[in-house]
Amino acid sequence: MKERNKKKILLLNCAFILTAGGILLFLLNAPEETTAHLPKDEIHAKFHEIASKKEAEKNCTDCHNENGVAPLPDGHPPKYRCLFCHKRD
Ligand code: HEC
Ligand code: HEC
Repeated sequence: MKERNKKKILLLNCAFILTAGGILLFLLNAPEETTAHLPKDEIHAKFHEIASKKEAEKNCTDCHNENGVAPLPDGHPPKYRCLFCHKRD
């Protein structure tokens, strides 16, 4: 292989590693750290028990809806999977 091609491949590999590392860092810094966890109170106790996140989440909007006892704040992000963002532990 020509010396120039080798250099090019080396550069591409470096770029790939840097990009992958950057994405990893980005994910590790994701905002979940600041997002409120699922409260550990009486109201939410049973949702800590339900093993499947998907099953547990079916109940959230009973109360967390516009007319419920605890509406979501204005500008709340898309809310499809509550427990991905509001962690249980
Ligand atoms: C029976 C009604 C009810 C259900 C069902 C319910 N919540 Fe709540 N939730 C509340 C009330 C009331 C509050 C405010 C008082 C409190 O923190 O307990 C609240 C507060 C919260 C908060 C804010 C905590 C904070 O620190 O500010 C989060 C996050 C939350 N709920 C997530 C969920 C998720 C996720 C589910 C589904 C697994 C869920 N809730 C199901 C009534 C409910
Ligand atoms: C994409 C991530 C994400 C998803 C999915 C999500 N939330 Fe949130 N939620 C947030 C962020 C970010 C905030 C505002 C910062 C915070 O946690 O106080 C918030 C705020 C809240 C609050 C108010 C917390 C407070 O301290 O006043 C409640 C209640 C809540 N979310 C419930 C829910 C419920 C119920 C679902 C599912 C129907 C849900 N969220 C899905 C990210 C998310």
